[in-house]
Amino acid sequence: MRSSESVRKKLGQFPHVPLSLLPTPLYRMDGMSAMHDGFDLYVKRDDQTGLAFGGNKARKLDYMMADVVSQGADCVVTWGGLQSNWCRQVAAAAAKLGMRTSLALFEGPTSIEGYDGNLLLDSLFDADIRVFEAGDIGNMLELASVRHVIEPIASELRSEGMTPYIAPIGGSLVEGSMRGPWGALGYVGAAIEIADQSNELKVQFDSVVLATGSAGTQAGLLAGARLLLPDTRVVGISVYGSSATVSGYVRAIGDRVLEEMGAADKLQDRDIIVIDDYIGEGYGVFNSQVGDAIRTLARSEGLLLDPVYTGKAMVGMVDLMHKGYFREGENILFLHTGGTPALFPYREQITDGLLPPVVR
Ligand SMILES: Cc1ncc(COP(=O)(O)O)c(C=O)c1O
Repeated sequence: MRSSESVRKKLGQFPHVPLSLLPTPLYRMDGMSAMHDGFDLYVKRDDQTGLAFGGNKARKLDYMMADVVSQGADCVVTWGGLQSNWCRQVAAAAAKLGMRTSLALFEGPTSIEGYDGNLLLDSLFDADIRVFEAGDIGNMLELASVRHVIEPIASELRSEGMTPYIAPIGGSLVEGSMRGPWGALGYVGAAIEIADQSNELKVQFDSVVLATGSAGTQAGLLAGARLLLPDTRVVGISVYGSSATVSGYVRAIGDRVLEEMGAADKLQDRDIIVIDDYIGEGYGVFNSQVGDAIRTLARSEGLLLDPVYTGKAMVGMVDLMHKGYFREGENILFLHTGGTPALFPYREQITDGLLPPVVR
């Protein structure tokens, strides 16, 4: 194990631009803990990273955007779902740094019905938005499946005299213009904060639970935890990929992060925990358990979850508590990764379309 000072120093050597507001708060969820006898439940508020309503992408962009600047690019090209949190925060980061963003947004599970949620915010940041039918694009995490859409956009920008930077979705897979796992490095920073906050609160976290998608958040956090929090397990609740697929990405990205951090060790099989039991009908497909989790957190903690990521991760965390996956007495930390702008486009499902009576 290393000291948080030495990890902080090493991380500080990587180029970064301060887009996120850090450290994010970490505190005990008293209402939720009271509802779950035998557990102390905490939350780390990475939904409060500041950039464009916050979320996990801000920490990633601190490092990735430094790479964009150092490559002399003036436009970021990236992709995601129609309600992508990643695309919204990229557009905000680029706007702040005086650059353009071109977004390829794929319909499904939400389809375009007007500007709402993240799509509205993308337009406020003046992103160049192009919407495509998802069709048969396969695994959207890899550039190979969307190259037919991304390359023509990049060529068009080059022909206009611009220098595009092709940013992989989620900002951590070493693809496109990115030569290192820069996004995931931001989550080593989160591990440092958790280690510091654990000391301040005098609480040792037995588990950290988070939503996992493109795996960079989990990989960076896990790499940081291996350096600083050796007794804390990191439990990823997948929102779309199978456990085997996401674990593969966590390993590939996490090992790259450890290498960049100058650590000799690699992630072990037992470190990588990805649970794929809570995807439900598919990525972004709402279900009643997610609705219940969103309402429960709102009503017990005044805390907003989102329907696509943190809602599903919370369903998983609570179910795993009930099933005895965590030991009695564990201190469990929920990493809130943001995504709350997507609450609005899901309004019909969340409320069952019921409006309050109008008193005339
Ligand atoms: C709100 C939210 N939580 C969690 C995640 C998962 O992060 P990662 O893609 O790094 O696994 C995402 C990614 O899109 C997200 O938007």
